[in-house]
Amino acid sequence: MMSDIKEILLTEEQIQAKVKELAEQISRDYRRKNPVLVGVLNGAFVFLADLMRHLDLDCTVDFVAWSSYGKDTSSTGVFRIMKDLETNVESKHVLIVEDIIDTGLTLHYLLDTIRARKPASARVAALLDKPSRRRIEANADYLGFQIPDAFVIGYGLDFAQRYRNLPFIGILKPEIYAGRGTPPDELEE
Ligand code: IMP
Repeated sequence: MMSDIKEILLTEEQIQAKVKELAEQISRDYRRKNPVLVGVLNGAFVFLADLMRHLDLDCTVDFVAWSSYGKDTSSTGVFRIMKDLETNVESKHVLIVEDIIDTGLTLHYLLDTIRARKPASARVAALLDKPSRRRIEANADYLGFQIPDAFVIGYGLDFAQRYRNLPFIGILKPEIYAGRGTPPDELEE
């Protein structure tokens, strides 16, 4: 796998230090609020697992999985829920945990869906943000790193379901996705 990596963008040490820092901030802000952490499958499960272990809070965890209709999702923003929350979030403090904000469409519609359920609050923790790719307003209240417009893998993020287990965030060599017919930034989860 290492031979597929062009560049390490964020090392394991950088990620772990940042996750701890975010957890400390979240622990301070959510004291006595018993938040529901909502992990967005699949990519966010590694970040969520590390983040929650640093939280000095009484919290619960739930997951949503989104899928797109057709391959035009990034332009149409049409999503369907593959796995909904088990938790009734009405009057609860919800913290959505996302791996990366790219066009912003996933987060925008997820926030709309959650807010329609009348939570006490709804905020977002995202490890990575590619602001230059944004198509719709979507921002993280707790952000790990802003990164340039590159397709990244590792620490939960995949290309064709691979590389999620890498402990760092890296950029793939272009020849890995060349010849597959679809550049990675047009692939959907
Ligand atoms: P958005 O709806 O365009 O903001 O995309 C968000 C989702 O696209 C993320 O949760 C990821 O699953 C996926 N994604 C976006 N950029 C990357 C990337 O660079 N590597 C891996 N997955 C990505």
